[in-house]
Amino acid sequence: MGETMDGSVIILAAGKGTRMKSNTVKVLHPLASRPLLAHSLDLGWQLAPLDLFVVVGFQADRVRETFTTYRPAPRWVVQPEQRGTADAVRCTLPHLGETVKTVVILYGDVPLLRKKTLESLLEKHHREGASISVLTALPDCPRGYGRILRAPDGRVLKIVEEADAGPEEKEIREINTGIYCIQVPLLRDALENLIADNAQGEYYLTDLVSYAASSGLKVCSEKTPEPFRALGVNSRGNLAEAERVLRQEICARWMDQGVTLQDPNTTYIDPSVSLEPDTVVEPGCHLRGNTRVGPGCTLGAGCIIVDSTLAAGACIRPYSIIQESRVGENARVGPMAHLRPGTVLARNVCVGNFVETKNAKIERESIAAHLAYLGDCEVGARVNIGCGTVTCNFDGTGKHTTIIGDDAFVGSDTQLIAPVRVGAEAYIGSGSTVTEDIPAGALAVSRAPITVKKNAGRAKRRKSTEKTPGGTSPGKQGPCKEQE
Ligand code: UD1
Ligand code: CA
Repeated sequence: MGETMDGSVIILAAGKGTRMKSNTVKVLHPLASRPLLAHSLDLGWQLAPLDLFVVVGFQADRVRETFTTYRPAPRWVVQPEQRGTADAVRCTLPHLGETVKTVVILYGDVPLLRKKTLESLLEKHHREGASISVLTALPDCPRGYGRILRAPDGRVLKIVEEADAGPEEKEIREINTGIYCIQVPLLRDALENLIADNAQGEYYLTDLVSYAASSGLKVCSEKTPEPFRALGVNSRGNLAEAERVLRQEICARWMDQGVTLQDPNTTYIDPSVSLEPDTVVEPGCHLRGNTRVGPGCTLGAGCIIVDSTLAAGACIRPYSIIQESRVGENARVGPMAHLRPGTVLARNVCVGNFVETKNAKIERESIAAHLAYLGDCEVGARVNIGCGTVTCNFDGTGKHTTIIGDDAFVGSDTQLIAPVRVGAEAYIGSGSTVTEDIPAGALAVSRAPITVKKNAGRAKRRKSTEKTPGGTSPGKQGPCKEQE
């Protein structure tokens, strides 16, 4: 095979996926955070075909909409009624270009195959001048797959579907992966002549094999050395199995690159994520989407990081959630912090437990160590945000910004009623409600003065309860002797 293959790729994806027992078409179920079909599309394009067709049917619009931004865009062909795999391929015939000599059939529900496996099938197909070549596999469990029937001399004679197989045929371990290379003349000829005489009343693409064999055409086969990659996703169990295979591969790759994964079995890293050496990932972490993790970071147990960038040495303590955010060098986050979209932490910032940020830019060395909400704000460098601080950014109609200058000190339990500015080096006393701008260097305190009434009301009653053995109810107490 040269740089570009002299043919087209056809991906079958029109079936509902009944065995998934889902309202969603099977090929849209996510695998490694992407729709199942995306994996087959990537694979198809890797062969550099003249054209790539995807046959859709059940929820066709939904499938196409999901892939509107996918590039290169495939050509969509609709199979109006799902009458079987051969009928699905038949729907593409009017669209196949004159120059197309070979088609490669892929399935939208066989997501783990590799380019080199297909290349080797194509290479053998051309070398042997076959009319049809089928990729076969010897999996641990052949149940559910079509079985390969061979003549005593080893030639492939036909494929028998599980539903049509007799007891002896069911014993055959070699299965049909559903992946074929087919010469277009055979395809056009056979698809006109197939009948749906089988247990499922469907037009089977597998019948092309016996059609070719009985017409004296050359049928070729190639056994994949990686049978686990031929996995067809028909059920939720198969989907979990595919997820496990992909996850293990990704984890192994990052460990090879110098990343410590304390428990690869519970580490979930999307293919799109990148990590750097000497980062340590504790058990139960999920790294999703466009996430970049620099060198020497620590990701504590149970962290979820989505579409975010972590600079070198960042330390994310357990059970923190970070979405669409940037964390600077050596910054510390968590445990149990929530950085929501638009959070940008500069280097050495500390955002501690139960702190939530959103659209918050926090400059270097600032600290919000406990229990705070920082939304729509710009916080300067070396600022102390006390425990319980809230930027009150929403007034019921719109969002407003809080700006805090360098070296300011915001005492615990402060509410900043946005829009509001706190100048550099300003000092806000604990418990304040800040409703106006505070100039640089000023001290601001807003507190109702505390009223202390000695020996009054509840305090008096409580004191007398403590003195009574057995704790009689305060309302029934006699006069307290210790009155002052
Ligand atoms: C098919 C093969 C089986 C093989 C297995 C490998 C046939 C008859 N059987 O069985 O030999 O071992 O794949 O995984 O080919 N589809 C359509 N239109 C339809 C029916 C199906 O586009 O009318 C699509 C489905 O969306 C799916 C693919 O074709 O992506 C395979 O269909 P499925 O019903 O899953 O076939 P299997 O029973 O797995
Ligand atoms: Ca299948």
